[in-house]
Amino acid sequence: MPRTMRVGILTAGGDSPGLNAAIRGFGKSAMSTYGMEVVGFRDGFRGLAEDRRVRLDKGALSGILTVGGTILGTSRDKPHKMLVDGRVTDMTPVIVETYRKARLDALVCLGGGGTQKNALRLARAGLNVITLPKTIDNDVALTDATFGFATALEIATEAIDRLHSTAHSHHRIIVAEVMGHRAGWLTLGAGLAGGADVILIPEIPYRVEKIADAIRRRSRSGTNFSIVAVAEGARNVQDAAAFHAVEKRLAAAKEPAERDAAKAELIALDALHAGNTLRLAAELEALTGLESRVSILGYVQRGGTPSGVDRLLATRLGSAAADLVQAGRFGVMVAARADGTEPVPLEAVAGRRKPVPPDHGWVTAARHVGTCLGD
Ligand code: F6P
Repeated sequence: MPRTMRVGILTAGGDSPGLNAAIRGFGKSAMSTYGMEVVGFRDGFRGLAEDRRVRLDKGALSGILTVGGTILGTSRDKPHKMLVDGRVTDMTPVIVETYRKARLDALVCLGGGGTQKNALRLARAGLNVITLPKTIDNDVALTDATFGFATALEIATEAIDRLHSTAHSHHRIIVAEVMGHRAGWLTLGAGLAGGADVILIPEIPYRVEKIADAIRRRSRSGTNFSIVAVAEGARNVQDAAAFHAVEKRLAAAKEPAERDAAKAELIALDALHAGNTLRLAAELEALTGLESRVSILGYVQRGGTPSGVDRLLATRLGSAAADLVQAGRFGVMVAARADGTEPVPLEAVAGRRKPVPPDHGWVTAARHVGTCLGD
């Protein structure tokens, strides 16, 4: 009789609505359809390095479909650069050992862009890895969608809706900061759906004078309030040029020392960028004479019950991952493709992002309805 297959599962990176729905979708399909055993690992790759297992039987998967966060816990730890006893350590060999000790036939990793890279490293170390794309940022390459985004879009849209009445009543500018350091999908989507007057995203560097012009035009036509939706990572033209120059150096760097220096510069530029939303609001107040306020939507966007769209996406991606394990198809991410799914090689996904294209339909629609994009 063939041995029962044993599959490990973990969630890595920032949490995102739909993770539990995906764990359930994979686990139930693996157990009920294929008779596999499923073992969870706590707190992402750290749980794998420390061999912190949790048996996922049908009882453990019951009642989690609608629950936010992840029942497994998560972390941003990387297998090859993990802080252990105060020292950055390559834990890949230890992880390979845990995989062998746990007698796993495969490992399913749920995560965003960073997780795709980490999973590829483990695949290269000999593990049978499959990934699922999750993130509220919607910026994983080569998939139509990532779970978490649809829920966050609803939350951010509702927040922008609510800001309208208070901005209107006080004749104020309200600058709403939306999550997304490198990609503007969430800000653009929620800004469009919520009717923000200005939308600023990392992909389109802005000029503060352009934004002030748009707000002054609104005031002249009798509308003396404005909502500005700004992504965490949106930058003005000068700051964006400085940032992209370092990013280019990083991409071209051949020596590890050059790479490390460029990475350190990016971290320093990110640190300088912190507080940008507050500065932007102050600048707009000075330029327009309208009182300004800031609302940072923050982690509310990642919390709570997943939307129906995310539950559906997470369930079908999880279920497709079980099919791939059964078929012995490894080293792939399960991408969403229209109503179906498609395995995409991790080599093709890892290290790539999916920014908002400047000619994307959402950008065009925003311009057509008169939204200022700051350029
Ligand atoms: O990657 C998802 C995300 O929520 C980003 O939108 C946000 O910039 C980042 O995570 C926040 O990271 P952390 O949870 O580590 O503070």
